[in-house]
Amino acid sequence: MALQILPSFLAADLGHLADELRRAEASGADAIHLDIMDPTFVPNMSFGPSVVDFCRRTCPGFYRNVHLMMNRPDLYLDAFAQAGAQTIQIHVEADCDLHTELRRIRARGLRNAIVLNPETPVARLEPYLGEVDEILVMTVHPGFGGQRFIADCLPKLAYLRRRLPTIDLMVDGGVDAETAPLAARAGANQLVAGSYLFRQPDMAAAVAGLRRDLAACAGQEAR
Ligand code: DX5
Ligand code: ZN
Repeated sequence: MALQILPSFLAADLGHLADELRRAEASGADAIHLDIMDPTFVPNMSFGPSVVDFCRRTCPGFYRNVHLMMNRPDLYLDAFAQAGAQTIQIHVEADCDLHTELRRIRARGLRNAIVLNPETPVARLEPYLGEVDEILVMTVHPGFGGQRFIADCLPKLAYLRRRLPTIDLMVDGGVDAETAPLAARAGANQLVAGSYLFRQPDMAAAVAGLRRDLAACAGQEAR
């Protein structure tokens, strides 16, 4: 199970997107996390496939993890796949046939993931556990960066880690130097961090710190 740190591009300085992406790649982070929002699913909007394509053109070797906060991800999967998404994450709360969409993502040769909002019981994931490459547990209500980490979500992580000891388990929302150890102890092996990482003058040091938190809990060496 790889230990991974993913800066969320939502927190990048909009005036310097290319430099911000290069800074994230140079920090030693494993992938860029791209938050795609549909205002019927969350109370906000962000960006679309053209930004995923921009990332591919700017830093082709930097892995693109695409989080679709959308009611109808089925209508946009092809566009994001064509734009260069490498993992596509869809919400269990979305309004589409998730079995079909999870299969479609894999059929395109991409990794799939299912995402769980803070208020959604972990039991909702049950029908999909055998067909996902990773699970993302939200630790904020999706829609905005810079919110407080909801620690009440930690038991979901612990349950999923016990249930699926080798699955990739990601946490997104409010992750920083204080909350990362909580997520790691509960069983996460992948951390998304937006505002915490992009506000660092030395992003590489912060990425290394988060990686150490994961490694301490996984009993592995930080790289
Ligand atoms: C929330 C997004 C998150 C967000 C995380 O809607 O899914 O990925 O960018 O930002 P921070 O780390 O600032 O909470
Ligand atoms: Zn996200």
